[in-house]
Amino acid sequence: MKLMLLTGLFLATLFQSLFGQGKFNDIPAIIPMPVEYKTAAGLFAFSETTKIITADTVSKPAAELLNFYLKSVTGKNYEMLASTSAYANSIVFKIDSSVVVQPEGYQLNVSTQQIELLAHDAGGIINGIQTLRQLWQEAGNKSLTIAACAIKDYPRFAYRGMGLDVSRHMFPVSFIKKYIDLLALYKLNTFHWHLTDDQGWRIEIKKYPRLQTVAAFRSETIIGHKKQSPHRFDGKRYGGYYTQQEAKDIVQYAAQRNITVIPEIEMPGHALAALAAYPNLGCTGGPYKTATFWGVFEDVYCAGNDSTFIFLQNVLDEVMAIFPSPKIHIGGDECPKIRWEHCPKCQRRMKELNLKDEHDLQSYFVQRIERYLNSKGRNIIGWDEILEGGLAPNATVMSWRGEAGGIAAAKQQHDVIMTPESHFYFDYYQSLYAAEPIAAGGYTRLEKVYGYEPAATGLDSSLTHFIKGIEGQAWSEYFTSTSQAEYMIFPRMLALAEVAWSPAKGKNYDSFLKRLRQQQTMLKKLDVHAADVFDEINYSSVPTADGTVEVDLQSSLPGMEIRYTTDGSPPGMNSRLYKNTVAIHKTCVLNAILIKDKKPVKRVFHQTFTIHKAIGAGIILNNEGEARFNLLPATLVNGVEGTDRYNDMQWMGFAGKDVEVIVDLGSIKNISTVSMNFLNYHWQKMWAPQWVSILISLDGKQYKNIYTKQNFPISGINKLKAITSSKARYIKIVATNKGVIPVGEYGAGGKALLMIDEITVD
Ligand code: ACM
Ligand code: ZN
Repeated sequence: MKLMLLTGLFLATLFQSLFGQGKFNDIPAIIPMPVEYKTAAGLFAFSETTKIITADTVSKPAAELLNFYLKSVTGKNYEMLASTSAYANSIVFKIDSSVVVQPEGYQLNVSTQQIELLAHDAGGIINGIQTLRQLWQEAGNKSLTIAACAIKDYPRFAYRGMGLDVSRHMFPVSFIKKYIDLLALYKLNTFHWHLTDDQGWRIEIKKYPRLQTVAAFRSETIIGHKKQSPHRFDGKRYGGYYTQQEAKDIVQYAAQRNITVIPEIEMPGHALAALAAYPNLGCTGGPYKTATFWGVFEDVYCAGNDSTFIFLQNVLDEVMAIFPSPKIHIGGDECPKIRWEHCPKCQRRMKELNLKDEHDLQSYFVQRIERYLNSKGRNIIGWDEILEGGLAPNATVMSWRGEAGGIAAAKQQHDVIMTPESHFYFDYYQSLYAAEPIAAGGYTRLEKVYGYEPAATGLDSSLTHFIKGIEGQAWSEYFTSTSQAEYMIFPRMLALAEVAWSPAKGKNYDSFLKRLRQQQTMLKKLDVHAADVFDEINYSSVPTADGTVEVDLQSSLPGMEIRYTTDGSPPGMNSRLYKNTVAIHKTCVLNAILIKDKKPVKRVFHQTFTIHKAIGAGIILNNEGEARFNLLPATLVNGVEGTDRYNDMQWMGFAGKDVEVIVDLGSIKNISTVSMNFLNYHWQKMWAPQWVSILISLDGKQYKNIYTKQNFPISGINKLKAITSSKARYIKIVATNKGVIPVGEYGAGGKALLMIDEITVD
């Protein structure tokens, strides 16, 4: 023991004196970035005789994991020795919580003779092993080397998680293990397994065989995006479940990698598959059918029926026997109250318990389950809707509808996991290219994930310690294959991992990208189909007073050039080289390509720019936009239409307020059409206007109404086109906001967002 400690101290001192602070080479390709890293001279080279030495029993199983990883690269197992003596050409593992004081922390000293890994605990050993995996270089002939260095490292947040939904699409056990290995590689420590939902129940519960024969299957699956109407279906039965033995095996596999598996059993909503199997658990008694498309369904567990609780407690008994996690996720999100409002049993329960509304009933439901789980020594974690009607006393809140739920929970002294859908839902688009495969919602590029700061919530600093960590979500509605799942999750998960682990003050996106480019090689070797779209072309478009649009093109790919065309032809090596901005004088599609090392790389960029009479017009707005959608008013006349990726920085959004836009064309012009779009997407609280009027004026004082429209039926983009034959300098658009979101809709009682883009005048 003593000798090892001395060796460690000696090495650390040696590094200090040889390579004093500030003289480091390039940062290594480690993600997440370690707290402290120093290079040293030389290499440690694995040889036939390299030994793995464990100085204590805690580090032994973790050291076996190193052998597992080494074997996958070198094809060889290394000799393991339990010993406290020093050996040359060895990798020495040791727990020492007096030297490494941070839980899950480790210190790694790599010299030409030895690798020493000191850790606070087994988790620290595993984290150190992951760093070794990222550092070693294959030196041909299946031998490995590691550049000498000294690392001190520990996590910023105790909870570093990734979710995975296996209800909407299910993945094989081999994929679940691969996923767990990847979580471990990036030092995440929690796998949140979303096992039940409307579209399928995926965990074997022996007491309830119909969960396996009925709830685990759906008759068919929707094709395409749920917003497309009418819905189309594939006509193919789909389903399956994980046996308890498989789940136990996964729990053990995860534990060996410092990962806790938190199972999620959804209640009281997202319960349709369970109701299909056991219709007596619903308010109406059914019949019910496992859902075949995506959404929120009105049939939920009956809260007035004691057999609901008996069922869930029996289910949870079996779940707890599989999953030893201190926390059990009970869902709690998106539970419509309409059945409860009309159910005699639910209403009787409310009366007996003096509950004032159905939110109180939901709170009763969650608290009753919490009491049960607490009695078994477990705690609950739930989505932020569990705040409604009052938080269960020991609950942790997973804040997904932004940060508000997390902030409210922290103010009530509850633990919080931040997973805002705006940053951490990896089922959202990561690129604005039209060629992206169908994804769930808005647009969350890698840089945005990386830029999330959990402490910048506005919470008083005395409360920020309630934020225990962060989690990314992988909802699988549109993950129709494991390859597509990987494409959506990677590399955004790596950005999340760095936010979760590394100190906030060292965060730097350029540094992250540099390391990510090296990690891409590793991901490829591990057969991960990661997206590589983060370097693709981004653009901005600014209208000018002379009626043209100036387009800027950007890419983060080092050493690239951009070539483009505006005549519709495909861009190639000889197309015009992009220098500063492209001035667009007439309507066109801008096609552009990235070129690196004299070769076109990545996909072709296409963007339509429409030149019309209002480009660069003066815009006067009567109201400010809602923060996320409060863009420069000129965005309304920049030649680009907003897409269904609603946060594409084209739409202006106004929360709860009517909108009046005055477009000043600068001089009197002949006008034949005035067009604009409104986005109707209730799941994002976006509501088309109640009515829209268009008025015109020669002098800006006297206006004449030329058009009114009241009906915007499309879920998605509603196009309005007014045809006229007028002369005008001023065009006034008045759009009335829906106001308060109606009962039964997402965000009921809150302010509706009125989303408008591109006012086109011809
Ligand atoms: C959720 O996305 N419904 C938690
Ligand atoms: Zn009921």
